[in-house]
Amino acid sequence: MKKRWLLALCLLCLLGLSATGCSDDDNADDDGTAGDGDGDGDGDGDGDGDAGGDTFEAQVARGEEEYGEYCAHCHGAMGMGTTMAPPLVGDDALPRDPPASRMVRTEEFRTALDVYEFASENMPGDDPGSLEMSEYVDILAFDLFANGVELDTPLDAEVAADLVINPP
Ligand code: HEC
Repeated sequence: MKKRWLLALCLLCLLGLSATGCSDDDNADDDGTAGDGDGDGDGDGDGDGDAGGDTFEAQVARGEEEYGEYCAHCHGAMGMGTTMAPPLVGDDALPRDPPASRMVRTEEFRTALDVYEFASENMPGDDPGSLEMSEYVDILAFDLFANGVELDTPLDAEVAADLVINPP
């Protein structure tokens, strides 16, 4: 994956983390927000990403487990690829145009949403489309994080559509 992904980094992540990433951590919650993960409303100016109190960090954590359960036996424990499946992490992962060796993928991967759409229809290769939509979102969050992307809002379709992973 390209270094350009890092542009998704946000300075407010640290603030967001300290306010939202600690909802299991009672003693970090001295700001009176009742520990529901919604304490960042004034920090990121987006105001729309906090439904249910989910955070990108929580998605990544769930996605790591789900990846291990449903994807790692083909794509490798660290997403580096195996003889059975291409890498999902690293410089060679998720190229914009499907290489000639791809049998299933015909679409470009321009944004993270393109990857989501491909994976939710065609993956896991041995049981396509079998996961909950939220599990695909979690796994995508984990894969983005493993490629150096951090977000200060939870991943959803709108955020994924704006996240260009392979610029023209
Ligand atoms: C049974 C093995 C297998 C499992 C399990 C599996 N995959 Fe795959 N995956 C493949 C193969 C094979 C390809 C290449 C498909 C092609 O030829 O286009 C692939 C391709 C992909 C691609 C596109 C990569 C690219 O560069 O074109 C993504 C994204 C992906 N898988 C995500 C996942 C996710 C997420 C999971 C777990 C939910 C998963 N896969 C589970 C075998 C698997």
